[in-house]
Amino acid sequence: MLKVENLSKEFTMHIRGGKKIVTLSDISFQVRKGEFLGITGPSGIGKSSLLKCIYRTYLPSGGNIWYLSGEGEMVNLATVDDHKILELRRSEIGYVAQFLHVIPRVSALEVVSSALITQGVEPKAREERAKELFRRLGIPASLWEMYPSSFSGGEKQRLNIIRGLISKPRLLLLDEPTASLDPVSKREVISLIQELKKEGTTMIGVFHDYETLMKLADTQLDINLKKCKEVCV
Ligand SMILES: Nc1ncnc2c1ncn2[C@@H]1O[C@H](COP(=O)(O)OP(=O)(O)OP(=O)(O)O)[C@@H](O)[C@H]1O
Ligand SMILES: [Mg+2]
Repeated sequence: MLKVENLSKEFTMHIRGGKKIVTLSDISFQVRKGEFLGITGPSGIGKSSLLKCIYRTYLPSGGNIWYLSGEGEMVNLATVDDHKILELRRSEIGYVAQFLHVIPRVSALEVVSSALITQGVEPKAREERAKELFRRLGIPASLWEMYPSSFSGGEKQRLNIIRGLISKPRLLLLDEPTASLDPVSKREVISLIQELKKEGTTMIGVFHDYETLMKLADTQLDINLKKCKEVCV
């Protein structure tokens, strides 16, 4: 369903005289439909950048990311136009970022339930589904109408996960989804992810926590063996 070929990403640091930072170099792998690929590697090696290239938050510098869409169309996520990317994000590709980027003055309930708008779910049903997940992941009712900017790190992370899972995307990218969770929340997040997997969602997840990785992943990619990690002029 996803085939990454010779992917590379470098950043040009304009404020540093145009120096280039090579973050990903020559990364290739593939993920089959319904499979969970776990990505490991030391901090700073480029795991988040890899997910961001697939979600196209970052424009890759080279290589291809072939994605077979729900409509049977083969799309190169590395080069396709932004319009198509936005369409895929709305309908089938989800992303749980490593950190929640809080939208000011939007309540937790709205942050989560709005992820279902593009799927045409009625407002009442959107709220019900959001509340069901809040209950499951232990977000107290007193917080539902609050702004997430005041939430604790773990509450923000659970909110982030709920927002990513609620629309049941076809391909889900997870960046250290259980990193700052207590054992109970972590167990619940793992079982939610396993349920989604049973329903057919294909996933790519970054983990530092080996135990969680072993529970979820079918296959593993370790990007320790990155060929180039240097600052080039
Ligand atoms: N927008 C950016 N501009 C410049 N450099 C960046 C940018 N994003 C990432 N990098 C650099 O790319 C490298 C990889 O970062 P990335 O966040 O992908 O690492 P990571 O493997 O996810 O690390 P961690 O395990 O700590 O989350 C880092 O050296 C980082 O500074
Ligand atoms: Mg990261």
